[in-house]
Amino acid sequence: MAKVIDPELRRPITELGMVKSIDVAPGGDVHVEIYLTTAACPKKAEISERVTQAVADVPGTGAVRVSLDVMSDEQRTELRKQLRGDAAEPVIPFAQPNSLTRVYAVASGKGGVGKSTVTVNLAAAMAARGLAVGVLDADIHGHSIPRMMGTTDRPTQVESMILPPVAHDVKVISIAQFTEGNAPVVWRGPMLHRALQQFLADVYWGDLDVLLLDLPPGTGDVAISLAQLLPNAEILVVTTPQAAAAEVAERAGSIAIQTRQRIAGVVENMSGLTLPDGTTLQVFGEGGGKQVAERLTRAVGAEVPLLGQIPLDPALVAAGDAGVPQVLSAPDSPVGKELRRIADALSSRRRGLAGMSLGLDPTRH
Ligand SMILES: Nc1ncnc2c1ncn2[C@@H]1O[C@H](COP(=O)(O)OP(=O)(O)O)[C@@H](O)[C@H]1O
Ligand SMILES: [Mg+2]
Repeated sequence: MAKVIDPELRRPITELGMVKSIDVAPGGDVHVEIYLTTAACPKKAEISERVTQAVADVPGTGAVRVSLDVMSDEQRTELRKQLRGDAAEPVIPFAQPNSLTRVYAVASGKGGVGKSTVTVNLAAAMAARGLAVGVLDADIHGHSIPRMMGTTDRPTQVESMILPPVAHDVKVISIAQFTEGNAPVVWRGPMLHRALQQFLADVYWGDLDVLLLDLPPGTGDVAISLAQLLPNAEILVVTTPQAAAAEVAERAGSIAIQTRQRIAGVVENMSGLTLPDGTTLQVFGEGGGKQVAERLTRAVGAEVPLLGQIPLDPALVAAGDAGVPQVLSAPDSPVGKELRRIADALSSRRRGLAGMSLGLDPTRH
């Protein structure tokens, strides 16, 4: 049973106290009883299947029967304590000084430049490399991550803990998973802050190598809240090649100077469209990414690299609608390759002071 991994908690069910009993009849027939965390567990069928398979893999077993029971309140409390200690107040694990999770906040000045597209593709590419990855859809009003990741699952709640659905090996949390249908979210600043705090503290993320935050466009409430909640998050600026877009993107990036967050780099998206005759059409002009990177470098006084230039590709639109990131469906397409290259660069980066504003202000004493 230790080989059976819970699909949501991603740990062996034996460690989670989910195995109630195992009976082996003299003829080799096996009956396993499993405790689910909640009766409404959306992964019931998957858990049963995994248990059945694991038992069937043992040579000499006859028929396998799995029955499901539900944990008592005491058992759930025990599980919560085991998973995240006895802390009374939920804390944000990524904001702790000893946290090893790299947090990237994907930001832009304008909407529609490809933040969410970049976020899901980087997440899927990093997960495919074997990293433990989470995506938090911080674009509360304009959420789009679950659709792009192809998941309509809702989180399971165990006591005060929220278990994020997993899509393409990435843990995903979005306000979309808590609303009915396509209902709009009409919250203002304080509610947005509270939602982000809960997403960071009450969601059981487990040990993540990387957490990606898909920000709403601009420098509004969410960007400020996140800077407060996660001062160590690094900003990844997405822009198009257009000069006007670049100027706005630069503004979104320079918020990092005020919040003293590090800028991980700039991604230029929608860079050029390859036509059937092999020539490239620069639909949105050229140079925006380079311009933002150079200006931010000057503004923070440390190298802000242009991490990559992603071409325009209609397949990327289709991939987003289909819920399968292009790095998975077409990893060797030019778009797939460029996104994977950026993901690799961000995965292998080490923490350091490069790109971070030191907050030294000669006019202040
Ligand atoms: N490189 C690209 N080529 C073609 N379409 C793209 C590209 N990047 C993004 N898109 C499309 O542009 C639209 C906006 O992208 P999205 O990721 O939702 O932007 P944002 O999150 O910044 O608002 C989506 O329909 C997406 O599929
Ligand atoms: Mg978006």
